Amino acid sequence: TEVELTDADYQLDGHPDYMRKEIAEQPEAMRRALMGRLDERFSTARLGGLRLEPRDLRSIRRVKFIGCGSAYYAGQIGANLVEELARIPADAEPASEFRYRNPVVDPDTLYVAVSQSGETADTLAAVQELARKGGRVIGAVNAVGSAIARECGSGVFLHAGPEVSVASTKAVTNMSTCFAMLALLLGRVRDLSVADGRRIVAGLVALPSRIEEVIAQDEHIADAARRFSAARHMFFVGRVRGWPVAREGAQKLKEISYVHAEAYQAGELKHGPIALIDGDMPSVVIVPDDELLAKNIGTIEQIKARGGPVIAVTNADLPAGLADIELRVPRTEPELDPILFGIPLQLLAYHLATVLGRDIDKPRNLAKSVTVE
Ligand code: AGP
Repeated sequence: TEVELTDADYQLDGHPDYMRKEIAEQPEAMRRALMGRLDERFSTARLGGLRLEPRDLRSIRRVKFIGCGSAYYAGQIGANLVEELARIPADAEPASEFRYRNPVVDPDTLYVAVSQSGETADTLAAVQELARKGGRVIGAVNAVGSAIARECGSGVFLHAGPEVSVASTKAVTNMSTCFAMLALLLGRVRDLSVADGRRIVAGLVALPSRIEEVIAQDEHIADAARRFSAARHMFFVGRVRGWPVAREGAQKLKEISYVHAEAYQAGELKHGPIALIDGDMPSVVIVPDDELLAKNIGTIEQIKARGGPVIAVTNADLPAGLADIELRVPRTEPELDPILFGIPLQLLAYHLATVLGRDIDKPRNLAKSVTVE
């Protein structure tokens, strides 16, 4: 049974559609996800719903995130965070693949089932397969009382509030926020230093206000969307931390605007996709100001050299005129960049779909929760 929405959840409160409303709700939704879960004294996270004692947390040798669509991409961000902060090998896999491939279930792996609705058939089946084989699985679910939440029995609720729009925004943002807390907790029971823990805690506390700063640039992002509204195809390019961000950006654009979008790891462009670059193929490039900045600048130069227009999503000081358009993102801790960099991409997809006159909340062929195989 799906969680019932109340009349209050169906109020648009002056917004033109639910996606817009839910994008705007993100600072508040993230504050809810963080509330009571950050421990400033020990520079760690408190996630009582996991029902895992420090000794259990230490026994985890691998973390695997399982979900579908945007929940899978959020899981990829989660896997990167776990590897970076806790140095535990981690990855993500689509639940729709996992359930069908007779997976090797390892007792020392923590499986994280990721779902906004808690009703996605493939994710539920993956959880049941894990339970059948004695795997340790927790939920990262938004809908309390949903099938996946009940089947997992423990985990971390996303607290994003009810999400109506088919295109997920606030739930996806809260997924990666919760994974940052999970990674922090796993890191701090191991070797993540107090100083690094403190840095991440402070970064998380400040993150909702940073989202407000991105949302305040709405008009500039709408201008960018108008400028590229004739494009029939777009690339989304990122590397390492930026790669799942690019995947989610392409997904959002496809879902609501029906513009063909492909995400590539920046380093893979030259192995094939670069053949498609020309003046009609804009690329959205994720450019955080981190240790890979020079590499990402090189990627933009390669695209520009082939006549491709570039929208850079960045918190770095890029050489003047390098990108055709810059979408600015405020600074946060580098590990948390993927959470923040997703926000302008939601707005870009939203505005492009609006310019093209699409039905924002009910895109064709899609359902809010996919309860069939
Ligand atoms: C997100 O914008 C999509 N509508 C879709 O990919 C979604 O994330 C996926 O179907 C998983 O849904 P869930 O989080 O409810 O399990």
